[in-house]
Amino acid sequence: MDNFFTLRTVTWDNGTVRMIDQTALPNKFRYVRYTRSDQVAAAITTMVVRGAPAIGVAAGMGLALAAVHSKARALPDLLREMESAAALLRGTRPTAVNLFWGVDRMMKKANSATSVQEAKEALVAEARAMEDEDVEVNRRLGRSGADLIHDGDTVLTQCNAGALATVGYGTALGVVRAAVEQGKLVKVLVPETRPALQGARLTAFELVRDKIACTLISDTAVGHMMSLGRVDCVIVGADRITRDGFVFNKIGTYQEAVLAKRHQVPFYPAAPRSTFDLARSHQQVTIEERGASEVVQIRGRRIAPRGVPVANPAFDMTPPELVTSMITERGLVNAPFEENIPRLMS
Ligand code: MRU
Repeated sequence: MDNFFTLRTVTWDNGTVRMIDQTALPNKFRYVRYTRSDQVAAAITTMVVRGAPAIGVAAGMGLALAAVHSKARALPDLLREMESAAALLRGTRPTAVNLFWGVDRMMKKANSATSVQEAKEALVAEARAMEDEDVEVNRRLGRSGADLIHDGDTVLTQCNAGALATVGYGTALGVVRAAVEQGKLVKVLVPETRPALQGARLTAFELVRDKIACTLISDTAVGHMMSLGRVDCVIVGADRITRDGFVFNKIGTYQEAVLAKRHQVPFYPAAPRSTFDLARSHQQVTIEERGASEVVQIRGRRIAPRGVPVANPAFDMTPPELVTSMITERGLVNAPFEENIPRLMS
């Protein structure tokens, strides 16, 4: 493990939150440091921090910042400030359920405190616990999926579901890491993941740094690679898995799942408990629509004519019939998902 990227994407550091600035990667590796919850909210919206588990922990830390830097002297005043910070954080990105999980977990702590001092201490402790748990949970998840990868396999992924999408170990790439730790030779096929290029910029960065064999491909090459038999399995992350087994993940995941079915390649979403939304079915999820500039430009350079209408859905939805098994820290979840998700993930 020591050979792998062990830096923390998001960390609590002495009354501040420190993050790796993912908008600068891979050209620059730099940290940013925040002391206010509105700064954390802006970091989530602009994708300084991104990836469902990482934004869940970041949102939790945003609330810890709101608490520790508050000048409120009475508990009801502190709680009012916390509510308004929570509302701002909840409004940053709609699809990843981990964001709401992180905010709700912190607000539950705040609401059970009996004094301002107690609330401040409890919220910092909770944020730090969320940070450490994320790494531990993803290591367990990685171990639970590693046997699905065989020596010599090529794994197709999508977006970045690695250390950078979590606090430290990764979900889909955590499974790859665990298989490599078992001594297997594993190669990862990395689609660039337009429009924000998390595959080209972040997944390729992590894998090159970790010395895990990888090949970067354009998103449009996925079907061709499958038809040539160059993909042994697909492992992707998830932003939300609903109780009826629908997997919401980065745009492009659904077409990978359809192609995987066509070519009899197993398709595995990998996600921790905090990504499962047992309260909702797929019809109740909002898919984030992001700005046109991500599509008409590549890294700030315009590639499409002015005035062209643009659609930019950031996520898509894969139905359960295209899923082989889901990899979680509690083990594999298999069909029928509508029965097994509530049973195993409650
Ligand atoms: O828009 P992003 O970069 O936040 O999207 C990230 C993904 O789609 C990941 O696959 C998902 O959050 C799982 S990360 C472990």
